Amino acid sequence: MIFKATKENITNAGELIKAGDVVAFPTETVYGLGASAYNPQAIAKIYAIKNRPHFNPLISHIAEVDFLKEYAIVDERVLALAKKFWPGPLTFILKRKDDNPALDLACAGLKKISVRMPNHPVALDLIRAAGVPIVAPSANKSQTISPTTAQHVQASLGDAVPMILDAGACNVGVESTIIDVSEKQIVLLRAGGIALETLEEFLGEKILISDGNPNKPSSPGQMLRHYAPKYETRINVEHPAPDEFYIGFGDMDCDLNLSPTGDLQEATANLFQMMHLAEEQTKKHKIAIAPIPNIGLGRAINDRIKRASYK
Ligand code: TXA
Ligand code: MG
Repeated sequence: MIFKATKENITNAGELIKAGDVVAFPTETVYGLGASAYNPQAIAKIYAIKNRPHFNPLISHIAEVDFLKEYAIVDERVLALAKKFWPGPLTFILKRKDDNPALDLACAGLKKISVRMPNHPVALDLIRAAGVPIVAPSANKSQTISPTTAQHVQASLGDAVPMILDAGACNVGVESTIIDVSEKQIVLLRAGGIALETLEEFLGEKILISDGNPNKPSSPGQMLRHYAPKYETRINVEHPAPDEFYIGFGDMDCDLNLSPTGDLQEATANLFQMMHLAEEQTKKHKIAIAPIPNIGLGRAINDRIKRASYK
Protein backbone atom coordinates (compact mmCIF):
# COMPACT_ATOMS: atom_id res chain seq x y z
CA MET A 1 0.00 0.00 0.00
CA ILE A 2 1.20 3.52 -0.79
CA PHE A 3 1.83 5.93 2.09
CA LYS A 4 2.93 9.53 1.81
CA ALA A 5 6.50 9.83 3.13
CA THR A 6 5.61 11.88 6.21
CA LYS A 7 7.78 11.90 9.31
CA GLU A 8 5.33 9.63 11.09
CA ASN A 9 5.13 7.14 8.22
CA ILE A 10 8.92 7.03 7.93
CA THR A 11 9.14 6.23 11.65
CA ASN A 12 6.58 3.44 11.21
CA ALA A 13 8.47 2.13 8.19
CA GLY A 14 11.66 2.06 10.30
CA GLU A 15 9.80 -0.02 12.91
CA LEU A 16 8.68 -2.47 10.21
CA ILE A 17 12.27 -2.92 9.09
CA LYS A 18 13.44 -3.42 12.67
CA ALA A 19 10.71 -6.03 13.08
CA GLY A 20 12.01 -7.98 10.06
CA ASP A 21 9.59 -6.80 7.42
CA VAL A 22 10.20 -5.10 4.07
CA VAL A 23 9.42 -1.53 2.98
CA ALA A 24 9.62 0.13 -0.43
CA PHE A 25 11.15 3.60 -0.38
CA PRO A 26 12.37 6.32 -2.75
CA THR A 27 16.01 7.00 -3.51
CA GLU A 28 17.39 9.50 -6.02
CA THR A 29 17.98 6.66 -8.51
CA VAL A 30 14.99 4.28 -8.37
CA TYR A 31 12.61 3.02 -5.68
CA GLY A 32 14.18 0.32 -3.51
CA LEU A 33 12.69 -2.66 -1.67
CA GLY A 34 14.40 -2.50 1.70
CA ALA A 35 15.11 -4.83 4.61
CA SER A 36 17.63 -4.95 7.44
CA ALA A 37 21.04 -6.04 6.15
CA TYR A 38 21.35 -8.17 9.29
CA ASN A 39 18.08 -10.06 8.93
CA PRO A 40 18.31 -13.10 6.62
CA GLN A 41 14.58 -13.85 6.94
CA ALA A 42 13.68 -10.35 5.83
CA ILE A 43 16.16 -10.55 2.97
CA ALA A 44 14.64 -13.86 1.90
CA LYS A 45 11.32 -12.00 1.71
CA ILE A 46 12.89 -9.55 -0.76
CA TYR A 47 14.08 -12.39 -2.97
CA ALA A 48 10.67 -14.04 -2.85
CA ILE A 49 8.69 -10.87 -3.58
CA LYS A 50 10.97 -9.90 -6.46
CA ASN A 51 11.21 -13.43 -7.76
CA ARG A 52 14.93 -12.84 -7.82
CA PRO A 53 17.57 -15.53 -8.37
CA HIS A 54 19.23 -16.26 -5.07
CA PHE A 55 22.78 -15.65 -6.17
CA ASN A 56 22.20 -11.91 -6.54
CA PRO A 57 23.92 -9.93 -3.78
CA LEU A 58 22.26 -6.73 -2.55
CA ILE A 59 23.50 -3.18 -1.99
CA SER A 60 23.62 -2.03 1.64
CA HIS A 61 22.38 1.55 2.03
CA ILE A 62 23.88 3.60 4.83
CA ALA A 63 23.37 7.11 6.20
CA GLU A 64 26.74 7.62 7.90
CA VAL A 65 30.18 7.08 6.33
CA ASP A 66 31.45 5.66 9.61
CA PHE A 67 29.19 2.68 9.11
CA LEU A 68 31.26 1.73 6.10
CA LYS A 69 34.34 1.17 8.21
CA GLU A 70 32.48 -1.23 10.47
CA TYR A 71 32.10 -3.98 7.96
CA ALA A 72 34.25 -3.15 4.94
CA ILE A 73 37.95 -2.60 4.35
CA VAL A 74 38.35 0.98 3.20
CA ASP A 75 41.40 2.99 2.18
CA GLU A 76 42.04 6.69 1.62
CA ARG A 77 40.95 6.49 -2.00
CA VAL A 78 37.54 5.07 -1.09
CA LEU A 79 37.06 7.64 1.65
CA ALA A 80 37.93 10.43 -0.79
CA LEU A 81 35.40 9.09 -3.30
CA ALA A 82 32.77 8.83 -0.57
CA LYS A 83 33.47 12.37 0.58
CA LYS A 84 33.12 13.70 -2.94
CA PHE A 85 30.20 11.65 -4.31
CA TRP A 86 28.14 10.62 -1.26
CA PRO A 87 25.32 10.90 -0.70
CA GLY A 88 24.80 10.01 -4.36
CA PRO A 89 24.32 7.35 -7.03
CA LEU A 90 27.68 5.62 -6.54
CA THR A 91 28.06 2.10 -5.11
CA PHE A 92 31.35 0.63 -3.93
CA ILE A 93 32.20 -3.04 -3.94
CA LEU A 94 34.62 -3.63 -1.08
CA LYS A 95 36.25 -6.50 0.75
CA ARG A 96 34.28 -7.52 3.82
CA LYS A 97 36.05 -6.82 7.05
CA ASP A 98 35.05 -9.96 8.84
CA ASP A 99 32.96 -12.96 8.08
CA ASN A 100 29.95 -11.78 10.06
CA PRO A 101 27.55 -14.53 8.98
CA ALA A 102 24.59 -12.22 9.49
CA LEU A 103 25.66 -10.45 6.29
CA ASP A 104 26.08 -13.62 4.23
CA LEU A 105 22.69 -13.53 2.60
CA ALA A 106 22.97 -9.80 1.85
CA CYS A 107 26.27 -10.54 0.10
CA ALA A 108 25.01 -13.80 -1.44
CA GLY A 109 27.90 -15.58 0.22
CA LEU A 110 30.55 -13.43 -1.48
CA LYS A 111 33.60 -12.11 0.37
CA LYS A 112 32.75 -8.66 -0.95
CA ILE A 113 30.04 -6.24 0.06
CA SER A 114 28.43 -3.40 -1.86
CA VAL A 115 27.54 -0.15 -0.15
CA ARG A 116 26.08 3.22 -1.03
CA MET A 117 24.68 6.32 0.66
CA PRO A 118 21.57 7.43 -1.24
CA ASN A 119 20.97 11.12 -1.87
CA HIS A 120 17.36 11.25 -0.80
CA PRO A 121 16.09 12.66 2.51
CA VAL A 122 13.40 9.97 2.87
CA ALA A 123 15.90 7.14 2.31
CA LEU A 124 18.37 8.67 4.79
CA ASP A 125 15.65 9.25 7.40
CA LEU A 126 14.42 5.69 6.97
CA ILE A 127 17.91 4.23 7.45
CA ARG A 128 18.32 6.31 10.61
CA ALA A 129 14.87 5.31 11.87
CA ALA A 130 15.65 1.63 11.30
CA GLY A 131 19.08 2.00 12.91
CA VAL A 132 20.63 -0.58 10.56
CA PRO A 133 22.03 -0.59 7.03
CA ILE A 134 19.16 -1.30 4.65
CA VAL A 135 19.72 -3.69 1.77
CA ALA A 136 17.62 -2.73 -1.21
CA PRO A 137 17.37 -3.90 -4.78
CA SER A 138 15.05 -2.03 -7.09
CA ALA A 139 11.42 -2.49 -6.01
CA ASN A 140 10.15 -4.41 -9.03
CA LYS A 141 9.85 -8.02 -10.19
CA SER A 142 13.19 -9.33 -11.45
CA GLN A 143 13.95 -8.57 -15.10
CA THR A 144 11.25 -5.92 -15.48
CA ILE A 145 11.69 -2.16 -15.87
CA SER A 146 12.91 -0.46 -12.69
CA PRO A 147 10.42 1.69 -10.75
CA THR A 148 10.85 5.46 -10.54
CA THR A 149 7.51 6.19 -8.84
CA ALA A 150 5.57 4.64 -5.96
CA GLN A 151 2.85 3.74 -8.48
CA HIS A 152 5.34 1.67 -10.51
CA VAL A 153 6.17 -0.25 -7.31
CA GLN A 154 2.51 -0.85 -6.53
CA ALA A 155 1.86 -2.01 -10.10
CA SER A 156 4.80 -4.44 -10.07
CA LEU A 157 4.73 -5.84 -6.53
CA GLY A 158 1.18 -5.07 -5.40
CA ASP A 159 0.17 -5.94 -1.87
CA ALA A 160 3.18 -8.15 -1.20
CA VAL A 161 4.79 -4.98 0.18
CA PRO A 162 3.11 -3.74 3.38
CA MET A 163 4.37 -0.18 2.96
CA ILE A 164 5.46 1.85 -0.05
CA LEU A 165 6.74 5.29 0.98
CA ASP A 166 5.80 7.81 -1.70
CA ALA A 167 7.89 10.92 -2.33
CA GLY A 168 7.20 11.42 -6.03
CA ALA A 169 9.41 10.60 -9.00
CA CYS A 170 13.13 9.82 -8.60
CA ASN A 171 15.22 12.62 -10.04
CA VAL A 172 18.21 10.61 -11.30
CA GLY A 173 15.99 7.86 -12.69
CA VAL A 174 18.59 5.19 -13.37
CA GLU A 175 20.41 2.93 -10.88
CA SER A 176 23.68 3.81 -9.19
CA THR A 177 27.05 3.43 -10.87
CA ILE A 178 28.80 0.38 -9.36
CA ILE A 179 32.58 0.27 -9.08
CA ASP A 180 34.70 -2.45 -7.54
CA VAL A 181 37.30 -0.61 -5.46
CA SER A 182 38.58 -3.66 -3.62
CA GLU A 183 41.76 -3.95 -5.73
CA LYS A 184 44.27 -1.44 -7.01
CA GLN A 185 42.65 -1.34 -10.45
CA ILE A 186 39.13 0.07 -10.12
CA VAL A 187 36.56 -1.74 -12.26
CA LEU A 188 33.20 -0.44 -13.48
CA LEU A 189 30.56 -3.14 -12.97
CA ARG A 190 27.49 -1.11 -13.89
CA ALA A 191 27.19 2.24 -15.63
CA GLY A 192 24.71 4.39 -13.72
CA GLY A 193 23.79 7.77 -12.28
CA ILE A 194 27.36 9.10 -12.05
CA ALA A 195 29.27 9.23 -15.31
CA LEU A 196 32.47 7.19 -15.68
CA GLU A 197 34.25 10.28 -16.98
CA THR A 198 33.36 12.23 -13.82
CA LEU A 199 34.91 9.54 -11.63
CA GLU A 200 38.02 9.23 -13.78
CA GLU A 201 38.55 12.94 -13.73
CA PHE A 202 38.30 13.07 -9.94
CA LEU A 203 40.59 10.06 -9.46
CA GLY A 204 43.11 11.01 -12.12
CA GLU A 205 43.17 7.38 -13.21
CA LYS A 206 41.43 5.11 -15.70
CA ILE A 207 38.64 2.82 -14.60
CA LEU A 208 38.51 -0.57 -16.26
CA ILE A 209 35.19 -1.39 -17.87
CA SER A 210 34.23 -4.92 -16.85
CA ASP A 211 33.86 -7.25 -19.80
CA GLY A 212 31.19 -8.96 -17.71
CA ASN A 213 30.71 -12.47 -18.95
CA PRO A 214 26.91 -12.31 -18.69
CA ASN A 215 26.53 -16.03 -18.15
CA LYS A 216 28.72 -16.06 -15.10
CA PRO A 217 28.21 -12.59 -13.76
CA SER A 218 30.31 -11.24 -10.93
CA SER A 219 27.67 -8.54 -10.72
CA PRO A 220 24.41 -10.07 -11.87
CA GLY A 221 23.22 -6.64 -12.99
CA GLN A 222 25.31 -7.72 -15.95
CA MET A 223 22.80 -10.35 -16.95
CA LEU A 224 21.82 -9.73 -20.53
CA ARG A 225 18.09 -9.76 -20.19
CA HIS A 226 17.24 -7.23 -17.52
CA TYR A 227 15.09 -4.15 -17.33
CA ALA A 228 12.99 -5.56 -20.12
CA PRO A 229 9.64 -4.23 -21.31
CA LYS A 230 6.98 -6.80 -22.11
CA TYR A 231 7.23 -6.10 -25.83
CA GLU A 232 9.85 -6.52 -28.51
CA THR A 233 12.22 -3.55 -28.28
CA ARG A 234 14.71 -2.34 -30.89
CA ILE A 235 17.44 0.20 -30.17
CA ASN A 236 19.57 2.63 -32.24
CA VAL A 237 16.57 3.11 -34.49
CA GLU A 238 16.63 6.19 -36.72
CA HIS A 239 13.66 5.28 -38.86
CA PRO A 240 10.98 3.42 -36.87
CA ALA A 241 8.53 1.15 -38.65
CA PRO A 242 4.93 2.40 -38.73
CA ASP A 243 3.91 -0.28 -36.25
CA GLU A 244 6.54 0.68 -33.65
CA PHE A 245 6.04 2.92 -30.63
CA TYR A 246 8.97 5.32 -30.99
CA ILE A 247 10.93 6.73 -28.05
CA GLY A 248 13.06 9.58 -29.38
CA PHE A 249 16.02 11.68 -28.29
CA GLY A 250 16.77 15.19 -29.51
CA ASP A 251 14.78 17.24 -31.99
CA MET A 252 12.60 14.69 -33.84
CA ASP A 253 9.12 13.30 -34.41
CA CYS A 254 8.32 10.50 -31.99
CA ASP A 255 5.68 9.17 -29.60
CA LEU A 256 7.66 10.11 -26.50
CA ASN A 257 10.90 12.08 -26.31
CA LEU A 258 13.56 11.32 -23.65
CA SER A 259 14.92 14.84 -24.12
CA PRO A 260 13.88 17.10 -27.00
CA THR A 261 17.00 19.23 -26.41
CA GLY A 262 19.32 16.21 -26.34
CA ASP A 263 20.17 16.55 -22.63
CA LEU A 264 21.49 13.22 -21.30
CA GLN A 265 20.64 13.99 -17.69
CA GLU A 266 17.03 14.71 -18.58
CA ALA A 267 16.95 11.59 -20.74
CA THR A 268 18.27 9.46 -17.88
CA ALA A 269 15.62 10.79 -15.52
CA ASN A 270 12.89 10.02 -18.09
CA LEU A 271 14.15 6.64 -19.26
CA PHE A 272 12.31 4.14 -17.07
CA GLN A 273 9.20 6.31 -16.80
CA MET A 274 8.96 6.43 -20.60
CA MET A 275 9.65 2.71 -20.96
CA HIS A 276 6.77 2.12 -18.55
CA LEU A 277 4.58 4.50 -20.56
CA ALA A 278 5.57 2.87 -23.84
CA GLU A 279 4.59 -0.50 -22.40
CA GLU A 280 1.20 0.92 -21.40
CA GLN A 281 0.54 2.92 -24.54
CA THR A 282 1.84 0.86 -27.44
CA LYS A 283 -1.10 -0.66 -29.25
CA LYS A 284 1.17 -2.46 -31.70
CA HIS A 285 3.22 -4.18 -29.01
CA LYS A 286 6.53 -3.08 -30.51
CA ILE A 287 8.94 -0.45 -29.18
CA ALA A 288 11.81 1.34 -30.95
CA ILE A 289 14.33 3.66 -29.30
CA ALA A 290 16.40 6.34 -31.05
CA PRO A 291 20.23 6.32 -30.91
CA ILE A 292 21.68 7.77 -27.70
CA PRO A 293 25.27 9.14 -27.63
CA ASN A 294 27.48 6.72 -25.71
CA ILE A 295 29.18 9.29 -23.48
CA GLY A 296 28.63 10.38 -19.87
CA LEU A 297 25.21 9.26 -18.62
CA GLY A 298 24.48 8.02 -22.14
CA ARG A 299 26.51 4.94 -21.22
CA ALA A 300 24.03 4.04 -18.47
CA ILE A 301 21.09 4.62 -20.81
CA ASN A 302 22.62 2.47 -23.55
CA ASP A 303 23.44 -0.27 -21.06
CA ARG A 304 19.81 -0.43 -19.92
CA ILE A 305 18.18 -0.27 -23.33
CA LYS A 306 20.60 -2.83 -24.74
CA ARG A 307 19.39 -5.26 -22.11
CA ALA A 308 15.80 -4.23 -22.72
CA SER A 309 16.23 -5.16 -26.39
CA TYR A 310 17.88 -8.51 -25.71
CA LYS A 311 15.78 -11.48 -26.80
O1 TXA B 1 20.51 2.73 -7.52
C1 TXA B 1 20.61 1.61 -7.05
O2 TXA B 1 21.71 1.03 -6.93
C2 TXA B 1 19.31 0.91 -6.61
C3 TXA B 1 18.74 1.71 -5.42
C4 TXA B 1 17.54 1.03 -4.81
O3 TXA B 1 19.73 1.95 -4.48
N1 TXA B 1 19.57 -0.44 -6.24
C5 TXA B 1 19.84 -1.39 -7.17
O4 TXA B 1 19.99 -2.66 -6.63
O5 TXA B 1 19.93 -1.18 -8.34
P1 TXA B 1 19.95 -3.95 -7.52
O6 TXA B 1 19.92 -5.07 -6.55
O7 TXA B 1 18.82 -3.89 -8.50
O8 TXA B 1 21.31 -3.99 -8.26
C6 TXA B 1 22.51 -4.18 -7.53
C7 TXA B 1 23.57 -4.80 -8.38
C8 TXA B 1 23.23 -6.21 -8.75
O9 TXA B 1 23.53 -6.40 -10.11
C9 TXA B 1 24.15 -7.03 -7.87
O10 TXA B 1 24.48 -8.23 -8.46
C10 TXA B 1 25.36 -6.12 -7.72
O11 TXA B 1 24.77 -4.85 -7.62
N2 TXA B 1 26.08 -6.40 -6.47
C11 TXA B 1 25.65 -6.17 -5.22
N3 TXA B 1 26.55 -6.59 -4.32
C12 TXA B 1 27.58 -7.10 -5.01
C13 TXA B 1 28.82 -7.72 -4.66
N4 TXA B 1 29.18 -7.89 -3.39
N5 TXA B 1 29.65 -8.11 -5.66
C14 TXA B 1 29.29 -7.94 -6.95
N6 TXA B 1 28.13 -7.37 -7.35
C15 TXA B 1 27.30 -6.97 -6.40
MG1 MG C 1 17.26 -4.01 -10.30
